[in-house]
Amino acid sequence: MATTSRLTGTGLTLAYDQRVVATDLSVTIPDESFTVIIGPNACGKSTLLRALARMLKPRTGAVHLDGSVITSLPSKEVARRLGLLPQSSIVPDGITVADLVARGRYPHQKLMRQWSKADEAAVSEAMRATDVAELADRIVDELSGGQRQRVWLAMALAQETPILLLDEPTTFLDISHQIEVLDLCAELHEQGRTMVAVLHDLNQACRYATHLIVMRGGQIVAEGDPTEIVTSELVHEVFDLRCEIIQDPQSGTPLIVPEARRRVTASS
Ligand SMILES: Nc1ncnc2c1ncn2[C@@H]1O[C@H](COP(=O)(O)OP(=O)(O)O)[C@@H](O)[C@H]1O
Ligand SMILES: [Mg+2]
Repeated sequence: MATTSRLTGTGLTLAYDQRVVATDLSVTIPDESFTVIIGPNACGKSTLLRALARMLKPRTGAVHLDGSVITSLPSKEVARRLGLLPQSSIVPDGITVADLVARGRYPHQKLMRQWSKADEAAVSEAMRATDVAELADRIVDELSGGQRQRVWLAMALAQETPILLLDEPTTFLDISHQIEVLDLCAELHEQGRTMVAVLHDLNQACRYATHLIVMRGGQIVAEGDPTEIVTSELVHEVFDLRCEIIQDPQSGTPLIVPEARRRVTASS
């Protein structure tokens, strides 16, 4: 069965001023996949996500959304189909949680249109799903990093887009909130949304991804079903880490066990 894709990048050169991050990079996000992007620091994961979300114009090549070159589409049009949770965002001064999440509804609001029931419902559902409802009246600036991360995620969810790009959505979160966020992503994926997330934890990536994209130095070096592509050779090549791969006892997916530096003995 051929993969269909609403979101693709072809022959991309991605750069900031003098710094070229990627050349001739092509990527296909399979529709209704939960695509996870992994790769070492500074390999271009965030840059690729920005290009896919129309936040960075490729120097050459093009990103297509539903067959149109994304930079030719009006930004509000793009924002109704695709949401991006950036790796870091600046919180507007003095804004409350409820007001920040409500900003996710902007692409759905028509000129001169009042706040609608649908807007209200989307905001409260997003706040419920991310467990921030009780923070509604708090000032975002005064929250912990983990709480703030969930508020940004709520804002992206409130946008109610069929495609959602999340850049390190689990950063700053404690382990149970990490799993909560990933389970929520999996649930959204099961409901038919296309999810794309950059993750650092390889084991979580292997568990949740239906399609894994492995990057290094601005290139995709492997992609596919994690169970088929993740090997200790690949992890060594990409992360320069010696490891053993065993089966995750819960999910059956690859579990990366880094080689110990020295033997730990019971008596020491
Ligand atoms: N705004 C920017 N201006 C200049 N260089 C940047 C900018 N953002 C990222 N870079 C550089 O681009 C490269 C890729 O960065 P990034 O895509 O953020 O990597 P990753 O998300 O994989 O850690 C890095 O060398 C980084 O320093
Ligand atoms: Mg990044």
